[in-house]
Amino acid sequence: MFNFRCALCILFFTFLLDKVDLLENGMARAPPMGWMSWGYYMCAARCEAGDDKCLDEKLILSVADAFYEEGYQEAGYEYIIIDDCWSEKKRDENGRLVADKRRFPRGMKFIADYIHSKGLKFGMYTNIADITCMQYPGSLKHMEIDAKTFAEWGVDYLKVDGCFVSEDILNKAYIQLGQHLNDTGRPMVYSCSWPYYIEFIHRKTPNYSLISKYCNLWRNYHDVQTSWLSVAAIARFYGRRYRELAPHHGPGHWNDPDMLIFGTGVLTRSQSRVQLALMAMLSAPILLSCNMKMITPYEKEILQNLDLIAIAQDPLGIMAEPHEFESTSGTATIWLKPHLPMKGDQYLSYTFAVINMENEEATGMIQLDQFPLNATDGYTVMNVFTGEYFLNVSLSDAIEVKVPGQDVAMLTLYPL
Ligand SMILES: *[C@@H]1O[C@H](CO)[C@@H](O)[C@H](O)[C@H]1NC(C)=O
Ligand SMILES: *[C@@H]1O[C@H](CO)[C@@H](O)[C@H](O)[C@H]1NC(C)=O
Ligand SMILES: *[C@@H]1O[C@H](CO)[C@@H](O)[C@H](O)[C@H]1NC(C)=O
Ligand SMILES: *[C@@H]1O[C@H](CO)[C@@H](O)[C@H](O)[C@H]1NC(C)=O
Repeated sequence: MFNFRCALCILFFTFLLDKVDLLENGMARAPPMGWMSWGYYMCAARCEAGDDKCLDEKLILSVADAFYEEGYQEAGYEYIIIDDCWSEKKRDENGRLVADKRRFPRGMKFIADYIHSKGLKFGMYTNIADITCMQYPGSLKHMEIDAKTFAEWGVDYLKVDGCFVSEDILNKAYIQLGQHLNDTGRPMVYSCSWPYYIEFIHRKTPNYSLISKYCNLWRNYHDVQTSWLSVAAIARFYGRRYRELAPHHGPGHWNDPDMLIFGTGVLTRSQSRVQLALMAMLSAPILLSCNMKMITPYEKEILQNLDLIAIAQDPLGIMAEPHEFESTSGTATIWLKPHLPMKGDQYLSYTFAVINMENEEATGMIQLDQFPLNATDGYTVMNVFTGEYFLNVSLSDAIEVKVPGQDVAMLTLYPL
């Protein structure tokens, strides 16, 4: 009896130690998936006749319809998030934010209700200065009323930018706003841009222990641009900074490398495989930003590849670790991610993504005994992009890999 109780109390104590230091609002247990307006639409507030980019009610409802009707929702895409430029330039007489009356004539509650009626979730945006990055009203002196307004509208996810404030305000205001969100009683995913501004605007080192205590996810690096070079820069950043970022990453608290650029016409097929594989390997959010009608059939096929999504959304939420690919020609990086399913409480599955950012083909071997794999009965190997189980391996084997330029080989090893 004594032993039993002690085991329980130790268990309880470790649980506490584990948990006190992280935001526990029950949200974002897996990295959020969905759509966000900024990457492709940016402000898009002028909406003159004939503009192909307009951030308005019609756009947001069209994303909800596409998620509902075209298989995205079943694959896990859930949050539809309106970024900057959604409000009137002035608050109302009670100090409340007001949706742009011309572009959102039925208001935000209407949009939230529509999105919720499809079983999807609704996200919005603010900034912790007096104005937003695009000079709309911001939340610094209105945190309580804004938190209440978002809660009343039915917001499920709030992206909070950090333009135009000092380091000192960043370090205080994100904590305060998080408290006001909590006080509303409505669970909302809290997405912070805090470390990005600390590092790239104020040139200081972000305190990720602090940030992960208050935010469900946080932007580390520059906004993604609609170009392959931007995707490559993001990949390099997370490779370089793995050791600093990985310890703070997991269920409920994620590093956020920003949106996919699918559906914008700039990625080749193989480049789209690279961007999606990278996000899945990092256990990053998977947020589209495009006109849903512009997604190509091939992009749609890989966005709805359920083997890949299962890796991206794996409950362990581990960020893949980069390793050098010992190539005989070309250069590439091996990203390695342990994930479920697990065989007999002992042997995890592993995905290797060999990502080649260069133009030349890279060839080489993955020597399995150089990695922490340990299933003594070996593994069966699946090519994630074809779904084919093409090989069985033992721990002493090597897998030969050939990756064309700007492409990825993504192989999952399930324990036999
Ligand atoms: C508020 O914070 C408490 C303590 O961390 C947490 O248990 C609760 O789920 C939070 N509520 C909301 C609505 O975020
Ligand atoms: C970072 O934040 C943690 C948690 O709040 C704190 O214990 C630690 O002292 C901070 N580190 C620095 C360098 O400020
Ligand atoms: C195999 O590796 C897993 C994950 O690191 C570990 O939990 C497990 O104890 C290992 N099993 C054996 C038999 O080495
Ligand atoms: C791998 O091993 C399993 C179990 O023995 C077997 O069913 C399967 O056909 C093998 N696959 C390959 C590609 O050899």
